[in-house]
Amino acid sequence: MQQIEISKLNQLDYHSNEAYKSLRTNVQFCGEDIKVIALTSCTPSEGKSSVSFQLALSMAEDGKKVLFVDADIRKSVLIGRHKIVAKNIKGLTHYLSGQNKLEEVLCKTNIENLHVILTGPVPPNPSELLGGKYFKELLTTQRDKYDVIIIDTPPLGSVIDSAIVSRQCDGVIMVIAADEVSYKFALKVKDQLDNAGCKILGAVLNKVKLKGNGKYYGKYYGKYYGHYYGKED
Ligand SMILES: Nc1ncnc2c1ncn2[C@@H]1O[C@H](COP(=O)(O)OP(=O)(O)O)[C@@H](O)[C@H]1O
Ligand SMILES: [Mg+2]
Repeated sequence: MQQIEISKLNQLDYHSNEAYKSLRTNVQFCGEDIKVIALTSCTPSEGKSSVSFQLALSMAEDGKKVLFVDADIRKSVLIGRHKIVAKNIKGLTHYLSGQNKLEEVLCKTNIENLHVILTGPVPPNPSELLGGKYFKELLTTQRDKYDVIIIDTPPLGSVIDSAIVSRQCDGVIMVIAADEVSYKFALKVKDQLDNAGCKILGAVLNKVKLKGNGKYYGKYYGKYYGHYYGKED
């Protein structure tokens, strides 16, 4: 197994910290058979990478054994954002293309309980690789080794990779940036996930401005999904 150093972590404010704790608790209440979880969204920049990684950290902090998989092969931000020294590190695409064994692409980190698989170089056919036998094998062989596997994916509105990943997971969480996507678009993406056979665990309402908009306070996470949409009708 490789070793990486995650040097930069976000300092969360009180509200964000509480919201992640609520999200963590809600995910844990989804049941013990929900172990492999993907995060997706309608458009880029709604906060999938931030929320998925922070959720992984929060669960690791809570003593859970966590594997974080960066499956946003086309546009990974993990290495740059968290100042990870990844020279000569083998990633997901090395494994998915059959160049390396799974054991060789897994990374221990300086964070207790957190293992990571970085993306690796961008191949010409990410969707095919994510739908192939190796990705399936990754999930089936690792699910018993971790308490939870969290997978960051690309936005579903732009590429199909996310649905390909999500249908192989136990559940998917939609990250929705407040005031950035329309109700129709969010619903379309939800339908797309449903049609692909993905189990939607709920939604995270992200980028909520708390000042002067207190009505959203405390409604960051899954169980409020229907409630939030209900309000838009
Ligand atoms: N809750 C939030 N509040 C403010 N900015 C956020 C929040 N979540 C994410 N961002 C910012 O939005 C940008 C896009 O986030 P990112 O997680 O990369 O989105 P995605 O993975 O969906 O493309 C980043 O600059 C990130 O720091
Ligand atoms: Mg991202």
